[in-house]
Amino acid sequence: MTGRLSADHPLAALYAGIDRYYTHKVNVHGATPLGVDWPSHSTQELRFEQLLRVCDMAAPFSLNDIGCGYGALLAFLARQKKRTRIDYLGVDLSASMVAHARRLWHEHPETEFVAAKASPRVADYSVASGIFNVKLSQPLALWETFVEETLADMHKSSRKGFAVNFLAPPAGDNKSPPELYRTAPERWQRHCEQSFGARVEVLHAGGLQDEYTLLVRTPGGAG
Ligand SMILES: C[S@@+](CC[C@H](N)C(=O)[O-])C[C@H]1O[C@@H](n2cnc3c(N)ncnc32)[C@H](O)[C@@H]1O
Repeated sequence: MTGRLSADHPLAALYAGIDRYYTHKVNVHGATPLGVDWPSHSTQELRFEQLLRVCDMAAPFSLNDIGCGYGALLAFLARQKKRTRIDYLGVDLSASMVAHARRLWHEHPETEFVAAKASPRVADYSVASGIFNVKLSQPLALWETFVEETLADMHKSSRKGFAVNFLAPPAGDNKSPPELYRTAPERWQRHCEQSFGARVEVLHAGGLQDEYTLLVRTPGGAG
């Protein structure tokens, strides 16, 4: 990972844990939805569709994909949004993930990947799919510090806005595995409104039952 954190950074062990978890997934399953811990290609793409609603597709733009995995978003863009020119940077903590992405997309124009925890450049928009869901055995407070830091990084590196998704709290009496992070939309919606002066839209898509997407628009944001 570039911009490696010093070992005594409060989040160093947390980032190392995420890196180990996803590196193992992609080493076992390769550049497939299972390799980034998604059960299916169709829901993986449904998430992209929701997140990309933050972007104005009428004009060319630059895009940071935080936690890009093997770059599956590019395949979706190439099929569904081929009329819009997009300058893409994929960012992932896992160097193995980035190696898979580079192998798949090295001939694709205006496409780069970097192994890092945050984008090294400011773009028009940033998106992140699935990076807050698996907290492993991290204490809740530390995981929420990670969420807060990641949102601040995305805000700093996005001129027009960014979009992220979360798992919703379990419905009724249902139990959720302790390694998953679930939270109500208001928690981070309010945070983005208050900390970034953003307008935040909450999307609930049919087909993604216990998840939601936050579109965070920050006119006059970074850049
Ligand atoms: C569930 S996978 C999703 C991959 C991709 N977004 C997709 O939907 O196909 C999450 C990915 O985010 C990466 N990740 C998690 N937190 C990150 C962070 N703060 N910065 C960069 N990558 C991160 C993990 O290494 C993993 O590859």
